[in-house]
Amino acid sequence: MLRDIMADTLIRDAAMKTLTVLGSTGSIGTNTLDVVRRSRHQYQVYALVAGQNIETLISQILEFRPKVAVVATSAGLVRLSDSLTAAGLAKSEWPELLWGDEARVQVSTAPEADTVISAIVGVAGLEATYEAVRRGKRVGLANKEVLVSGGKLVMEAVREHGALLVPVDSEHNGAHQCLRAGNREAVSKLILTASGGPFRNTPKEALRSVTPEQALNHPTWRMGNRITIDSATLMNKGFEVIEACWLFDFAPRQVDVVIHPQSSVHAMIEFTDGSVLAQISATDMRMPIQYALTYPDRWEAPVPKVDWTKAKNWEFFPPDYDKFPLLRLAYQCQETGGSATCTLNAADEIAVEAFLQGRIAFLAIAEIVAETLSRIPGRTPQTVSDILEIDRESRAQARELVMSRAGAVTA
Ligand SMILES: NC(=O)c1ccc[n+]([C@@H]2O[C@H](COP(=O)([O-])OP(=O)(O)OC[C@H]3O[C@@H](n4cnc5c(N)ncnc54)[C@H](OP(=O)(O)O)[C@@H]3O)[C@@H](O)[C@H]2O)c1
Repeated sequence: MLRDIMADTLIRDAAMKTLTVLGSTGSIGTNTLDVVRRSRHQYQVYALVAGQNIETLISQILEFRPKVAVVATSAGLVRLSDSLTAAGLAKSEWPELLWGDEARVQVSTAPEADTVISAIVGVAGLEATYEAVRRGKRVGLANKEVLVSGGKLVMEAVREHGALLVPVDSEHNGAHQCLRAGNREAVSKLILTASGGPFRNTPKEALRSVTPEQALNHPTWRMGNRITIDSATLMNKGFEVIEACWLFDFAPRQVDVVIHPQSSVHAMIEFTDGSVLAQISATDMRMPIQYALTYPDRWEAPVPKVDWTKAKNWEFFPPDYDKFPLLRLAYQCQETGGSATCTLNAADEIAVEAFLQGRIAFLAIAEIVAETLSRIPGRTPQTVSDILEIDRESRAQARELVMSRAGAVTA
């Protein structure tokens, strides 16, 4: 019997993984496809899901030959179809072309895909990720907004349907690795590191006039615009605290944040006896992405090894909650529970967008988020539709607040 189970496991693990990549044209998506590119015999791409970036999607289709390609809008579908014709690909070689919310769910739940990489930014990725979880798939989760908005619902579905949810976010991936080393009951604390972003050493007063270009200049990671601005406000770290609470069943007070500008240590766990384990690796997302694809196995990864000659300069210090109030707000929202974190995410997305458009100042991001939270009543969402409704309502409120401030930009 045991031999049969082991044989089954070996056969399953030896089989090729068939992937749906949600957000294939983004930073995580392109890194995922690079991991695939380097181990072509191990992976087959079933579906590529993009938003608006048709040019990158076309080159991905030509290289990876998915069965299905999905874009966000019907207009995008027309552009995709025109571009495939222009690229000279015979119609018989085209993938099936789809667009919109339903199509994203369709390719995430299709029996042909055993693994879904969830790397769309924002709640646009929630439903497809949730439905993949409900089909019991392996889900590599980069899209932190999924758990920030719908953590309770998604984690209940993980338990109910036996899905394998492996975090891709480097800190959570690090925590996942650390937690394999000991008994979960003996873990008293999770410590997430933060680079501190581009304004770590900028005095609070000077933050009034920082520009989007300065905020987009992240010291250690190259990422999409939203997460880069969220790293500059430390909202990203706040989201990560919330994500960690859901993923690993911690209370917010059990999750600490420590500033570590070198971003070499990603996460640490502290046991009840005071012993601490750390996960350390290069600042390259292909390692956690590959881990999410191969767990529980480990393969050679196309990333640099840790340079220990630089370790003597590693620093660790506490975050400045006064200068970065969104981090504290994230703790408070997770303590509050219910829809607070969904509103936090929605308001932040609108405020970040307005900052990037030059409509509001950097410090107004936190003010708009806090003000939106005070105006949107908390409730307990029961379904994805409930979450999306709270998300819409929170965005509308945040947009109003942006409108009332636009023109008052000092940056
Ligand atoms: N980058 C990192 O190192 C990193 C690390 C940890 C966690 N994460 C998380 O991973 C997620 C992705 O981050 P990223 O840096 O890869 O972002 P990104 O570079 O901005 O990419 C976002 C992806 O989402 C797609 N997208 C956006 N709206 C969509 C929609 N309505 N329908 C379909 N696709 C849509 C984009 O498509 P188009 O470009 O085609 O419009 C793009 O493929 C975020 O939640 C982020 O917090 C990222």
